[in-house]
Amino acid sequence: MNEVLKTMLERSSIRAYTEEKLTNEELESLKAAALSAPTAMNRQDQRFIFVTDDEKLKLFDESVLREIVESGNLDFAERIRSRGGSTTYHAPLIVIIVSKPAHFSRVDAGIAVENIALCAKSLGLDSVILGMPEGMFRGAHAEELMREFRFPDGFEFSIAIGVGHRAMDKAPHETDPKHIITV
Ligand SMILES: Cc1cc2nc3c(=O)[nH]c(=O)nc-3n(C[C@H](O)[C@H](O)[C@H](O)COP(=O)(O)O)c2cc1C
Repeated sequence: MNEVLKTMLERSSIRAYTEEKLTNEELESLKAAALSAPTAMNRQDQRFIFVTDDEKLKLFDESVLREIVESGNLDFAERIRSRGGSTTYHAPLIVIIVSKPAHFSRVDAGIAVENIALCAKSLGLDSVILGMPEGMFRGAHAEELMREFRFPDGFEFSIAIGVGHRAMDKAPHETDPKHIITV
């Protein structure tokens, strides 16, 4: 089977990671994958914040849950706590994609995040796309957190992705051929 298609079909969201760090070579490949993503009008108005520092990873993880608690979504917070409390599943790399708001900027970010996910899979790594952190970059602590994670001026959170070595197995999601419409 075509290698790219095989990678696509084998990818699934992994929600538990070992402590093993990524190598520089792996990080460089993931950066190339991010930068190679196409953007509308070739604007390239997105930045990729690669977070590997343990303290910053912890801050990111804890801030997601804090925002959920502070927004009053206590049932959801409790569900996260009952599943171990980590919203990033201890992934040793988080890439935050930030965008200058514009028509299609979130589509651009979506393309880039999948590029990263597929690159990770092809390197023998796994990933999980993370939309949940959106709240922490819009809530009461947003300014401070955007500073901590070095958002450039005028850029806002679009999506994030955790990458690492899997500590669990999970089959890819079921697909439905009826979702294809042929005209
Ligand atoms: C835009 C987007 C946001 C997501 N946000 C989260 C998230 O915050 N936390 C999480 O555990 N999974 C998140 N996911 C993963 C989805 O739940 C997952 O892709 C979906 O259940 C299909 O499973 P699969 O990725 O294993 O095929 C997100 C996926 C997408 C595309």
